[in-house]
Amino acid sequence: MFFPRTSFVFYFLLLAFEMENFPSIGALVKENAQLAEMLHQMGIRFYQEADKTLEQACREKGIDPAKVYQHFDLLRKNQDFDLTQLSSYPIEILVSLLRHSHQLFIKQKLPFLFHTIEEMDENRFFKPELARDLKMVFPIFAEDFIKHIYEEEDTLFGYIQYLLECTKEIKNQGKLYFLLTTKGIRTFAMHHEAHDNEISGIRSLTDDYSLPPDADLFTFILYRELQDFEKQLRQHALIENNLLFPKALRLENEVRWRLDQIRLQN
Ligand SMILES: [Fe+2]
Ligand SMILES: [Fe+2]
Repeated sequence: MFFPRTSFVFYFLLLAFEMENFPSIGALVKENAQLAEMLHQMGIRFYQEADKTLEQACREKGIDPAKVYQHFDLLRKNQDFDLTQLSSYPIEILVSLLRHSHQLFIKQKLPFLFHTIEEMDENRFFKPELARDLKMVFPIFAEDFIKHIYEEEDTLFGYIQYLLECTKEIKNQGKLYFLLTTKGIRTFAMHHEAHDNEISGIRSLTDDYSLPPDADLFTFILYRELQDFEKQLRQHALIENNLLFPKALRLENEVRWRLDQIRLQN
């Protein structure tokens, strides 16, 4: 391929300009660890491309850097829930919001943490034995957590959806009676509490995510992302325990009352 000499000069000048004026990926992720997770999704590993600028790495992968910034903005906006504001939302909206968070956990957060831990060079980690423990414990945690999510999606959310349909019309009294007596929101809620602290094992392994004073970029991002994941899980569980279950209980009582009324009339 023919490149005019001036193009080369221009390209290297541009590169030098970028190197000098734009922060490196290493500096960017250090400022906001969640960017590392988003770049991972786009095939850019923060620990392999730490010295490049975001623009350089994006250009090499054929990605528009503006899109990366846009996605990042959306990701940040999606993270902080205001519980008071959410409490006024109908149960259908809460369920779709929780479903959306499940998708983010499964498609973004878990793969990022899973691959980062898997690719971690234990001999270069500040505590090799901790790296080995994380490599062993995290996949077990991830598997349990994915099961938890699918159980909620298939059983709890499915049950809530069915209850919502029954507020309009009860098509099958026998089925509804069976579900009300065998499933029951109270049972879900009691079972749910037991899952709340699944990540606490990882927190204690990392000594509450305490970073060594001379932490390298890899450790810094890994710990910040684990900590952020735990924060998101806690927020998620708060929405489920404090908002979803009380609303679902009220919905269940309403449907039970409607069923009783139909039975009394017959
Ligand atoms: Fe959930
Ligand atoms: Fe949950």
